[in-house]
Amino acid sequence: MQKTDSSQMNFLEKQEYYLHLINELMSVRKRGEKPLAFIHTYGCQQNVADSEKIKGMLSSAGFDFVDAPDNADFILFNTCAVREHAEDRVFGNVGALKTLKRKHPQIMIALCGCMMEQKHIAERMYKSFPFVSLVFGTHSLQNFPQLFYDALFTGKRVYERDNDDKLIYEGIPIKRDGTFKGWLSIMYGCDNFCTYCIVPHVRGRERSRKRADIISEATEMINNGYKDITLLGQNVNSYGKGLDEKISFAELIGEIDKIPGDYWLRFMTSHPKDCSKELIDTIASSQHISKHIHLPFQSGSDRILKCMNRHYDRKKYLEIVNYAKAKIPGLSLTSDIIVGFPGETYEDFKQTLSLIKEVEFTSLFTFIYSPRVGTPAAKMDDPIPAEEKSKWFRELLDVQEEIASKRCASMVGNKEKILVESVNAKTGELQCRSSGNIIVECEGDKSLIGTFQNAEIIKARHWILKGKIV
Ligand code: SAH
Ligand code: SF4
Ligand code: F3S
Repeated sequence: MQKTDSSQMNFLEKQEYYLHLINELMSVRKRGEKPLAFIHTYGCQQNVADSEKIKGMLSSAGFDFVDAPDNADFILFNTCAVREHAEDRVFGNVGALKTLKRKHPQIMIALCGCMMEQKHIAERMYKSFPFVSLVFGTHSLQNFPQLFYDALFTGKRVYERDNDDKLIYEGIPIKRDGTFKGWLSIMYGCDNFCTYCIVPHVRGRERSRKRADIISEATEMINNGYKDITLLGQNVNSYGKGLDEKISFAELIGEIDKIPGDYWLRFMTSHPKDCSKELIDTIASSQHISKHIHLPFQSGSDRILKCMNRHYDRKKYLEIVNYAKAKIPGLSLTSDIIVGFPGETYEDFKQTLSLIKEVEFTSLFTFIYSPRVGTPAAKMDDPIPAEEKSKWFRELLDVQEEIASKRCASMVGNKEKILVESVNAKTGELQCRSSGNIIVECEGDKSLIGTFQNAEIIKARHWILKGKIV
């Protein structure tokens, strides 16, 4: 469901007005100097994209941005709840701000993001850290200006989570971190409820943006020189659900692909249960879609996949992977894996090892299972001790390192189109990326940053390639 355009306009105009008021208040407080904000983002690209909206709003209110909290007037932590480790870091880093706040009491400290949509965590943080002035969840992003203004103007603490208004707001300003690499959200939320995962609980149900809004944002990014655009969603393959217009993800990306320009299109994340042959065919025949699919399989054991509520089995996963490999020469596949899901045995884990050997992924994001309060898996029996899980985890890394080394070594001699991204501060070499999302290091001048080049792959070191720009 989408809000009517006119009521969205009114709402956004009101928020814009709050930004204007914040600007005035801050300019009095700073005696005409620019106020400074420090935004620290944890978690996935979804959070990075949200932070870019917050930065867009703060920019409109006259803020500049700094890389450290010390001189900032406004400090915001955009938090992630996906694993315990992510949460622990936030608790530690917020606690460390206490001294800074004591020294400079006028600083405003705020917390937002996925952790703040968990009632028990948000309340605990609000109580434990009385120097935090503003707490808001992912569902309150659109009224950040109003919340910020309330905290600033009244001097009282502001707390908002589980906002009922879970619609999509178009037109919130975005200040992207990159000038040639950028994120483009096409949908929000998740309906899948994998039994281990907190995301649907903190991000709400799936909502897709309208096709026309996405096309116009993509066109604008391409015209502004973006070379590497990633379409974002927790499960991009189910894009379109609930829209008045009938459109699949394959149709959407096929249409973006037609926008003229020199750029790569990527997307994440794909769910194997919804990854269609139509999508693979679209990638195969596209001009701009990179030859890389991130297709998390989580576990190679059918029994565990069932307990995870993933709605596919090993056979179906391999079927789609083999179809994709046949259709897209040189395809690079990556995946997420969870080790030590409750009840997983070493026999189950061996199924995961055999799957990664069979598919030969370019790289893997591997996680040890972390129980999340409120998810079904957190209540399941979990008899395997942590040390045992860590042993399996290391075994997985070793196997994958061998696969990645072999894969990269097989690319020596290839010609690859690469995007020059940065200079490696240690070696002085250019850090580049291939269409398959593999890092390629090359000699060259930093003026090439942000451009496409062609390189010959001359060497492979583990999962990094050495190239020569030709
Ligand atoms: N929507 C994406 C990914 C979301 S979270 C998808 O479905 O693929 C990113 C990854 O974190 C997941 O793919 C999973 O591998 C991991 N993850 C999620 N919850 C976890 C948990 N409780 N413990 C360990 N890893 C987890
Ligand atoms: Fe979490 Fe599963 Fe949704 Fe991904 S698809 S965000 S793992 S519930
Ligand atoms: Fe973390 Fe929220 Fe992303 S929980 S992984 S930041 S959707």
